[in-house]
Amino acid sequence: MTHPVDLSTTLGNAWFPSPLFTASGCASSGKELAQFFPLRDIGAVVTKSVMTKPRHGRPTPRMAETPSGMLNSIGLQGPGIDAFLANDVPWLLQQGSRVIISIAGETIDEYSVLARKIRSTSGISAVEVNISCPNVENRGMVFATDCDTSARVIDGVRKIIGGEIPILAKLTPDVTNIADVARSVVNAGADGVALINTVLGMVINLDTMRPHLGGKTGGLSGPAIRPIAVRAIYQVREALPNLPILGMGGVSSGRDALELILAGASGVSIGTASFGNPAAIIDIQNQLRDLLAQRGFTSLKQAVGYAHR
Ligand SMILES: Cc1cc2nc3c(=O)[nH]c(=O)nc-3n(C[C@H](O)[C@H](O)[C@H](O)COP(=O)(O)O)c2cc1C
Repeated sequence: MTHPVDLSTTLGNAWFPSPLFTASGCASSGKELAQFFPLRDIGAVVTKSVMTKPRHGRPTPRMAETPSGMLNSIGLQGPGIDAFLANDVPWLLQQGSRVIISIAGETIDEYSVLARKIRSTSGISAVEVNISCPNVENRGMVFATDCDTSARVIDGVRKIIGGEIPILAKLTPDVTNIADVARSVVNAGADGVALINTVLGMVINLDTMRPHLGGKTGGLSGPAIRPIAVRAIYQVREALPNLPILGMGGVSSGRDALELILAGASGVSIGTASFGNPAAIIDIQNQLRDLLAQRGFTSLKQAVGYAHR
């Protein structure tokens, strides 16, 4: 018989009983997953990125299958922050779930407006600031591809949120040096980073001989991007050894999750894998516990960043 393993983890000053979370946008606000397992049994639900106003998302088709992955151009479809805070958050808290709210904006100011609304909501574990989206004030350039713009978004959110709720900046891997972007958001007040968002890709339809997705480009997710996630996490951990990292990207088994943890992640979000298997997070959690025990770890914390020793 293997010894018990303490799976609990922290991100900034937030504590979680398990390091397995949902990935933003892949489980909405958790209602569908709640049919398969109690949401309090996982680390936290990271909700779909919410914006100030209700949104319909991008034109169809919005999905394409790719080898070992999926390309989506759903866009940030959602109810808007007011309806979200009135309905989704209270429901999640009622389930005993820990909640990480993901926010997204088209301008630096939109993030601050969202932060102001969240500040007065109690019971939130953390805020994930999705800066991997286009900045309409700067030629649609993705916020997180520029250190200065990334810092300005996080600085604005930090000033409003205050010191109590940890802020995680969600970064894109589509940059030359992800450690530089991580450093700039930390200097602006982020408590940690979420790595990685989807990787920009495109599929051409051979019948129409034009881009398949309505939005032309889309975000690549699933097993195809896991080595990119492992690399990004490893590089950020190396540059900033004490920075909490929430990892994600192509994790569909306990082995995959352990890989991200050894690279430096204190928590792991599961996205695309939940589409095929709604109970994937629970399966991965059980597999991870066994894998840690087999390697002689008595707690998850001992394994975080082990690959750097
Ligand atoms: C359909 C879909 C919608 C997504 N929506 C969001 C979103 O709203 N906000 C966000 O930060 N990331 C979003 N993501 C990115 C995921 O949270 C995650 O970073 C990425 O998919 C990599 O993880 P995975 O390979 O486990 O899916 C989305 C991904 C997918 C596939």
